[in-house]
Amino acid sequence: MSLTTEITRRRTFAIISHPDAGKTTLTEKLLLFGGAIHVAGAVKSNKIKKTATSDWMEIEKQRGISVATSVMGFNYGDYKINILDTPGHQDFAEDTYRTLTAVDSVIIVVDVAKGVEAQTRKLMEVCRMRNTPVIIFVNKLDREGRDPFDILDELEQELMIDVRPLSWPINIGAHFKGVYNIYEHNISLFKPDKQHVTDRVDISDINDPAIDKAIGAADAEKLRADIELIDGVYPDFNTLDYLDAKVAPVFFGSALNTFGVKELLDCFVRIAPSPRPVNAIERTVEPGEDKFTGFVFKIHANMDPNHRSCIAFVKVCSGVFQRNGNYKHVRSGKSYRFSAPTAFMAQKKEIIDEVYPGDIVGLPDNGIFKIGDTLTEGEELHFKGLPSFSPEMFKYIENSDPMKTKQLNKGLEQLMDEGVAQMFINQFNNRKIIGTVGQLQFEVIQYRLLHEYGAQCRWEPIHLYKACWIESDEEALDAFKKRKHQFMALDREGRDVFLADSNYVLQMAQQDFPKITFHFTSEF
Ligand code: G4P
Repeated sequence: MSLTTEITRRRTFAIISHPDAGKTTLTEKLLLFGGAIHVAGAVKSNKIKKTATSDWMEIEKQRGISVATSVMGFNYGDYKINILDTPGHQDFAEDTYRTLTAVDSVIIVVDVAKGVEAQTRKLMEVCRMRNTPVIIFVNKLDREGRDPFDILDELEQELMIDVRPLSWPINIGAHFKGVYNIYEHNISLFKPDKQHVTDRVDISDINDPAIDKAIGAADAEKLRADIELIDGVYPDFNTLDYLDAKVAPVFFGSALNTFGVKELLDCFVRIAPSPRPVNAIERTVEPGEDKFTGFVFKIHANMDPNHRSCIAFVKVCSGVFQRNGNYKHVRSGKSYRFSAPTAFMAQKKEIIDEVYPGDIVGLPDNGIFKIGDTLTEGEELHFKGLPSFSPEMFKYIENSDPMKTKQLNKGLEQLMDEGVAQMFINQFNNRKIIGTVGQLQFEVIQYRLLHEYGAQCRWEPIHLYKACWIESDEEALDAFKKRKHQFMALDREGRDVFLADSNYVLQMAQQDFPKITFHFTSEF
């Protein structure tokens, strides 16, 4: 197959949702359709349990397993699909953000009873920032939930994107009868079944009497009225608007019952983008270019403390990655050869000879890589789009064992390279501040410092609201730094960061220093 064919048949995406909306279940059903697994439940057993905020040892144990499901590749018809898994636990949101930088599109799962929840809103912000096309799957129609029209309104308002239903539920909960596929003109009749796909009734159009026969006259009437309303309110679906991230098609179904999932998948492969051009500081890289380029978006540490080996996940942006090829690690300027790159097919890892744009290749790493690193065939290229986001929790980290200062520093550097959390140095007192998106990460860091580096640390409280990267001309910056010197820090790249201790303080700073721009991500 030519490079172009390989590129156009690839679909690399992530499924995102608030915990419990049904992401794992949907992932699993997509794998079932792809023939990548044969029984329901196979993915579930690998899932990081969400209940266990305090039981993080369990989560660590499961992290080891979850490397296999970090990327799930499978073939579906002529398409090669790569699902990039995002950690289910909400404390790992930082990881999720970065995964979103490596996908070409996203499927958002929303629970019909709960609507748009906090984490979905946050993740959508990242999609919006990157203009990532999204499809929405409204899940759990077999349960009582909200009126579908209300859900559509909420999706539009909360996710700040226009929506266009492409399937429509016939009742909900106990009276749920199926979905009308607006895109393909057929009706799927609902039969609760966790393993099999349900029957379809093909119809010519919405007035076909076959609908009355299938769901009864009263429901057929209601369906016709609903569809008329939809066609009146929502403009016709236009794939280009979806690709421009201006409109999100919406599907309804029940992942648990494998219902409405095939409709979603069939439409997805048809409309979702194949690998898109990627922006580097120097230029835009097209996937069809001859030469290989790629970037590291995730590093997975091996949990075995005796082998500090990691896997770096590299997204191939252009050309073909070859096993034993000679590639330049742009940050260090050194060349490396990788004799055992792994591909991720369904749930197994295997050594692979060639990897195409859109695919993810796993490279064994013993300390070469940092998140955001670029690999090329020699070109000086730095991919953009892997920003750090302001953490939500902050603590001072202190050394508890002065004999092990070196180990602590080394451990911290490596954990930060891996992207476990962010570190800032307070310019006023030179103390190290660790910022995370959840309490769990502090525990993970403490545990890993001890078990992998033999270093002991303790946490001391610091009350902060947000870290903002600031931008301004020299003069305004100096004035600002002077005034706020107690709250100025440097990130690991040496960039100026303002640590605001409350929303009020931040607003006042914005008011008092109009020449300074405050950014909540490190890339602007
Ligand atoms: P997540 O990855 O987004 O966190 O969600 P997950 O798929 O684990 O689903 C969360 C719960 O919702 C699971 O129940 C799952 O079975 C259920 N669920 C998913 N899709 C549907 C659906 O279409 N209808 C209904 N009624 N339930 C659905 P659980 O009790 O937490 O887990 P389990 O005991 O079923 O494994």
